[in-house]
Amino acid sequence: MSVYLGVDIGTSGTKTIAIRPGGELLAQASATYPCHHPKPLWSEQNPDDWWRATTDTIRQVVKQAKLKPSDVKAIGLSGQMHGSVFLDKNDKVVRPALLWNDQRTAAECEEIERRAGGRKKLVQMVANPALTGFTAPKILWLRNNEPKNFERTAKVLLPKDEIRRRLTGEFATDVSDASGMLLLDVKRRTWSKTLLDKLELDASLLAPTFESEDVTGKLTPEVAKLLGLSTECVVVGGAGDCAAGAIGNGIVKSGVVSTSLGTSGVVFVHSDEPQVDPEGRLHTFCHAVRGKWHMMGVTLSAAGSFGWFADALCQTDALLAKKSKRNLFEQLTAEAAQTPAGAEGLYFLPYLSGERTPHADPLARGAFVGLTLSHRRGHLVRAVLEGVTYSLRDCLEIVESLGVVTKQVRTTGGGAKSPFWRQLQADMFGKRVAAMASDEGPAMGVALLAAVGAGEYKDIVEATKHAVNTAEESKPSAAARKVYDRGLPIYRGLYDSLKGDFRKIANS
Ligand code: XUL
Repeated sequence: MSVYLGVDIGTSGTKTIAIRPGGELLAQASATYPCHHPKPLWSEQNPDDWWRATTDTIRQVVKQAKLKPSDVKAIGLSGQMHGSVFLDKNDKVVRPALLWNDQRTAAECEEIERRAGGRKKLVQMVANPALTGFTAPKILWLRNNEPKNFERTAKVLLPKDEIRRRLTGEFATDVSDASGMLLLDVKRRTWSKTLLDKLELDASLLAPTFESEDVTGKLTPEVAKLLGLSTECVVVGGAGDCAAGAIGNGIVKSGVVSTSLGTSGVVFVHSDEPQVDPEGRLHTFCHAVRGKWHMMGVTLSAAGSFGWFADALCQTDALLAKKSKRNLFEQLTAEAAQTPAGAEGLYFLPYLSGERTPHADPLARGAFVGLTLSHRRGHLVRAVLEGVTYSLRDCLEIVESLGVVTKQVRTTGGGAKSPFWRQLQADMFGKRVAAMASDEGPAMGVALLAAVGAGEYKDIVEATKHAVNTAEESKPSAAARKVYDRGLPIYRGLYDSLKGDFRKIANS
């Protein structure tokens, strides 16, 4: 039997799946871990937590599906992008990893643009402007703020690539994830020697790059034994979670767009050429499809905003839901569904950890605006879901302004499991929004890449033809669409009005 594993090292947890060729799901397991915020705007995790979650979940799927060591032919790795794992010369972790939603590096982003000779030149080198979440600013932050730790650092790896190193003993990354380091010449799919020189960073800090389906190594004997797998099991390049999720949704050709509602929200579009948004609002990265690219807009707190609301304001309900084995998010969404579209004039700005698209503003803050005595909790929930979806509409409109025609939106991630939120997307975008038949997200994308790497399919386009199908579609309601069309300029205007205040709050 041939089985492929997909492992997604996310922000709230790690998910591992086992599939047969053709995408049939044999087993899945997940494990969670904390995210630390030692200061406002900081966000860090411990790579040992990812490792524990990876080994636990792989062992669980091997047990659940009763796999023999020789069954598992290949593993694909996906993970939260941009995080910085700093390793010393003995491969010991130097300090906790800074994550994609960490906003401490505004000064380093300015430094990068200055050293590059301006934003335009930087975009020519690496296809993107400097954003606080990206990896290069984190490396400069370490050099500027923790020089002793910087001196000890011999390698900087992305989260899933640190897990690869522990699985195989190899340093490697794939071009989709590497794009988010801001050190890759995205057009040429290779490290930018020019930018590395300007930043005075040694190329030896970085791992060799591979295409997503290429084999990067095999399990070490100790790890194979620990996991109940074989030393013949290969690990392929894999992908950043956005590209991996898009593969899992079949976004391997132009025309279909995907949205993902995880901690962050992503609007993702395939591109045959490396197209760059002149204003730098979208990211242009290598796709996990060999020789192709993608563009995406990112909302930093998407389902993360809903998670925050439930955590911060619904603790008693969370306990009651746990006791009676009910799902708190379904309960809250049902309350939202009782309120009318537009939440009776209540708006929510989802900028809880600053924002990337469209504002690229680390100092933006979340806000409820328009509260009245008549608003109940259902209105607040509705406003949160609408605010996040307005933010995705901002991303979608930028994608379309570049001439991309979108007929269908495919949606994935925890938030996409909610029929209410899928309908909200359809109404807000005025487009058909399809759920996926098997919504295993990025883990499915990299399990399919593993199957390609092991020779099961000619390429990833063929693999997705066999394994990816859409399920129900939500169709837009003209009445709701009208409400959101009226609300959109108000939502957008709120950021413009509050921008100055966000600065004052950050500096107070
Ligand atoms: C993408 C990004 C996030 C993380 C979340 O640019 O920062 O989507 O990858 O896992």
